[in-house]
Amino acid sequence: MASADEPVVNIQQLQKVFRVGFWGRRVTAVDGLSLDVQRGEVFGFLGPNGAGKTTTIKMLMGLIYPSGGTATLLGRPVADPSAKAKVGFLPESPYFYDYLTSQEFLRFYGHLFGLLGSALDKRIDELLDLVGMTHARDLQLRKFSKGMLQRVGIAQALINNPDLVILDEPMSGLDPIGRKEVRDLILRLKETGKTVMFSSHILHDAELLCDRVAMIMKGRLVACGQVSELINHGTTQEVEMVVDRLSPKGIEEVRPLATKMVLHGERVMAVLASQRQVDEALDVLRAHKAKLVSLIPHKASLEDLFIREAKGVQQATEVHA
Ligand SMILES: Nc1ncnc2c1ncn2[C@@H]1O[C@H](COP(=O)(O)OP(=O)(O)OP(=O)(O)O)[C@@H](O)[C@H]1O
Ligand SMILES: [Mg+2]
Repeated sequence: MASADEPVVNIQQLQKVFRVGFWGRRVTAVDGLSLDVQRGEVFGFLGPNGAGKTTTIKMLMGLIYPSGGTATLLGRPVADPSAKAKVGFLPESPYFYDYLTSQEFLRFYGHLFGLLGSALDKRIDELLDLVGMTHARDLQLRKFSKGMLQRVGIAQALINNPDLVILDEPMSGLDPIGRKEVRDLILRLKETGKTVMFSSHILHDAELLCDRVAMIMKGRLVACGQVSELINHGTTQEVEMVVDRLSPKGIEEVRPLATKMVLHGERVMAVLASQRQVDEALDVLRAHKAKLVSLIPHKASLEDLFIREAKGVQQATEVHA
């Protein structure tokens, strides 16, 4: 068991090189990745398709071996079988034995962890209730919707009452309601003191859920931190101002303050890049007795950061090509 301040997941310079094709061409899927997940966090592991998320998670779960670097789970090296006793895992494309009912499916995984008898029955009831699937306990998985499968998959990941839950793309393929259900479930896990690490390329979900995120591209870490810190870093806090009845002289005074200005009949829309420019523009409005309609800050999103970083990685690749 890791001590309270020890990271629950610790990855240091992790690397995975695959050999593909007849000539054994090298594909570097994970390239010197280092990161920590702290106890009690919901940690988002983000990146576009092919970034190396599943490969990293497979190395954490001991399903494939790293080509370099080290990783620990709950303070133990991933190669140590006891490291997984308190870890739950939802794979990216879980293979479900689809002729099983949800309770049979959970029973199967319970047996793998040595759970038996009434303790297992109780655990199955608790988990089906937690994921809102009690009504489907006797329904075969092949009759489940994608959202139901994902929920029973998460129940499976919790069968051993893990301290750390690793979910590979838990929201993928779900509609907005299904995604919200999985988000609520993750928050409930956090409330019960579990640490959750999940991979996703759905940035909106990560923004709503995560204490911290790591963003990887081409196997490398490009950003890591609190969502609010990351999205504000390096972005200007633009404000969009809409005004009515601004005199032609007033318009000319606002124009040099704005990075963009659009005139529409009586209405003026100006984009202002900083607080100082907003203050000066408001002075002009007062002096010219114009009517302020709205003043809306442009909120940067994780998506803006994602696109910015992707462009940076693309440019760096082109320079080195
Ligand atoms: N067994 C393998 N053999 C060869 N190359 C592989 C293997 N597994 C993954 N790769 C390559 O490693 C890179 C990273 O793949 P990975 O599945 O880890 O990405 P991902 O971030 O999980 O993407 P996605 O969002 O699509 O799930 C890709 O270029 C992929 O083609
Ligand atoms: Mg993946």
